[in-house]
Amino acid sequence: WPRTSGRAGGAVMVGGVDVRDLAREYGTPLYVVDEDDVRSRCRDYAIAFGDSDVHYAGKAFLCKEVARWIDQEGLGLDVCTGGELAVALSVGFPPERITLHGNNKSAAELERAIEAGVGHIVVDSFEEIARLGFLAERHGARPKVLVRVTTGVEAHTHEFIATAHDDQKFGLSLNSGAAAEAVRRILALPQLELAGLHSHIGSQIIDTAGFEVAAQRLAGLLVQIKEEHGVVLPELDLGGGYGIAYTDGDEAPDIKMIADALRDIVAKVCTAAGLPVPRLTVEPGRAIIGPGGVTLYEVGTVKNVEGLRTYVSVDGGMSDNVRTALYGAEYTAVLASRESEAAPMLSRIVGKHCESGDIVVRDLWLPEDIVPGDLIAVAATGAYCRSLASNYNYQPRPAVVAVKDGAARVIVRGETEDDLLRGQL
Ligand code: LLP
Repeated sequence: WPRTSGRAGGAVMVGGVDVRDLAREYGTPLYVVDEDDVRSRCRDYAIAFGDSDVHYAGKAFLCKEVARWIDQEGLGLDVCTGGELAVALSVGFPPERITLHGNNKSAAELERAIEAGVGHIVVDSFEEIARLGFLAERHGARPKVLVRVTTGVEAHTHEFIATAHDDQKFGLSLNSGAAAEAVRRILALPQLELAGLHSHIGSQIIDTAGFEVAAQRLAGLLVQIKEEHGVVLPELDLGGGYGIAYTDGDEAPDIKMIADALRDIVAKVCTAAGLPVPRLTVEPGRAIIGPGGVTLYEVGTVKNVEGLRTYVSVDGGMSDNVRTALYGAEYTAVLASRESEAAPMLSRIVGKHCESGDIVVRDLWLPEDIVPGDLIAVAATGAYCRSLASNYNYQPRPAVVAVKDGAARVIVRGETEDDLLRGQL
């Protein structure tokens, strides 16, 4: 739950606003984001990582207003498509603090990034090195690049979001020598400035040992590059992936401890090899925007399946939060329309889509007097919910409302039926 949230009698308050008022004013489903929560997490990261750079990973959730918050908090921004780059540039986000990612960036995306003068481009394949060299020359530019390295770390997270083992699409393998070959090729191209190495081991990682192993291996590669080429690369980007608490049993990793451990390891490896300590960057997405988000739904039907559980259907579902269906993600939720003393019953919050896997919260206890018209608030939906939302079954994507100091305002308009039909011939 957001840091500013709490219960006052029957009310669930977020950012000083009763969520019942939000539902009345803006309708449901509704994404609510607590501005102070997001900003305070930006500051926590900036403080924990001290003189390192913190880049918010926009894929978690990006819109113009969030880009403004990130800019005002002094963070950088990681984008991975031309679309995300366009959002950032539209609000004047300083391009030098933007990093462009992606395993298959188009020539148009690369050109746009070069023209805008983004701070870094992370190269992810041999083709891209050649492509980028060619485009840089055409534009008379010399972009700073990082090599995305697959470090071989087995991150303990869902298969779909683990990214540092060798058998997947991202990066250039450290073990096979592909990463070292990429470095050779970039150093041979005067159009590109090789600034350093990048690794991202996966997402929603609670066990922090993997970050440390990856950092150690990357630092080892810096040493190898110095020995082979006499080149000292000044930067190391360790990616994102810091987990958050989704349910009461979860505990988020301590970011200060991670920051200290990562800095220590890199400093140790580099100092032992007589290398200066590189400048570090991290790219948290979920940990910045996730906890500050809450989704509100209205209950439409309540169906008791004798002897099993009660299915509580809400007015959204996998179109506004696909994470449960896609990753088996767990969430927690509360009744937000009133106080209830009724006995708890085993429930499943499901959506309105035409799939039985359309589940929002798989298992939770809700009061047995829950009825149509009740309001449900689901916690920790700030990351990868709106950004992964779809129009499945022609469901309009909900609005995003920011709350702060007792006031609310729309930062992303909800879609209408006209929006859904636009563009059809
Ligand atoms: N940097 C890179 C290069 C990434 O690929 C990602 C996430 C991040 C940073 C930010 O990771 P975070 O700190 O948010 O964990 N849709 C999935 C997560 C996909 C993550 C993709 N890359 C989910 O909902 O769990």
